[in-house]
Amino acid sequence: MEATEQDPLDVDAIRADFPILDREVSDGQRLVYLDNAATTQTPEQVVDVFSDYYRGYNANVHRGIHQLSQEASIAYEEAHDRLADFVGADGREEMIFTKNTTESINLVAYAWGLNELSEGDAVVLSEMEHHSSFVTWREIAKKVGAEVRYIRVDENGYLDMDHAAELIDEDVEMVSVVHASNVLGTVNPMRELADLAHEQDALILGDGAQSVPNRPVDVKELDVDFYVFSGHKMAGPTGIGGLYGKQEILEDMEPFLYGGDMIRRVSFEDTTWNDLPWKYEAGTPLIAQGIALAEAADYLDDVGMEAIQAHEERITEYAYERLDEFDDVEIYGPPADDRGAVVAFNVDGIHAHDLASILNDHGVAIRAGDHCTQPLHQKLDIAASVRASFYLYNTKEEVDALVDSLDAAREIFN
Ligand code: ALA
Repeated sequence: MEATEQDPLDVDAIRADFPILDREVSDGQRLVYLDNAATTQTPEQVVDVFSDYYRGYNANVHRGIHQLSQEASIAYEEAHDRLADFVGADGREEMIFTKNTTESINLVAYAWGLNELSEGDAVVLSEMEHHSSFVTWREIAKKVGAEVRYIRVDENGYLDMDHAAELIDEDVEMVSVVHASNVLGTVNPMRELADLAHEQDALILGDGAQSVPNRPVDVKELDVDFYVFSGHKMAGPTGIGGLYGKQEILEDMEPFLYGGDMIRRVSFEDTTWNDLPWKYEAGTPLIAQGIALAEAADYLDDVGMEAIQAHEERITEYAYERLDEFDDVEIYGPPADDRGAVVAFNVDGIHAHDLASILNDHGVAIRAGDHCTQPLHQKLDIAASVRASFYLYNTKEEVDALVDSLDAAREIFN
């Protein structure tokens, strides 16, 4: 399948880079991997860079005069430039490597929130936040006595922007909102939210876990103060994520973790901090993961982020329309042509976990549960949902396999 007018990607060529997609599961079923919002598969190019590091120049960074350490240090530092460029940041000073999106949010919440928030201040989240943001900000707010407010999600799965404007008042110091929902698929108007926050001198954090992998992102255009993402959802390895922060804010903030490498000088009396971004990367960092993540960014850029987005929109729209043909299927979130690459739904009379288990018997991997968004599921008045999520290597035939195997579940349950 070459790139066509309808599909901007040559999906056959892409799939050849992901041999895992050829494996069989559940006693001989062809794997249909539709759990990409949880984690994406890793192309050979990224696996090679990871193993090249361990085979060729494994060494600690910023500590050795020897050649291996120098090679590792250069590759690790350049990986920061690569990821900074991938999201439109000014340079490595604005790109901190963390373990994942959750750790990036915690870094901001602890390093900025604990110091800057106090009683009388408010933090604004949305009702569709992932627990990584929801729980983190609420716990920090509790510690300092700040209020937490939630922007309403309307019946179509969009943020109520009038409500956002009402909530973001002069007491608000931080707005932390997911860019693309991991359940509803809603793509939130980050720039509009950033403008609302900045009008009140508040900061804004964008959770890009479901957007950086799937669409071009430019943090400067979005005018966010912080922006966070995970490597394993963008064809990279696990154990690595990113935190973009505006340089002047990162300069002013106190470090989150203390230890080696984040210091410039230590005496018996005092410590001074290292330059950005190392000030926020205490201890031996995620060297192999960071270098491999840079390769993932290269891989995605070589395919083309705009083409990836267009391909995913095509697959997502097809999945939505196929699922929407059935009266017993309820899909959550905005319409087919206005969402990120996820479709969460329920089938009448079949619990989400049972459905996922039957689909697994047919080789179809999807996620079932609350997807780390229990408050949103309470709002939707459901205990759980199943979620199909797509990436650059998925095909319409795989969507058909998903839809066909729903019949098997219906047969068992009806
Ligand atoms: N946050 C990831 C998901 O939505 C794990 O599946």
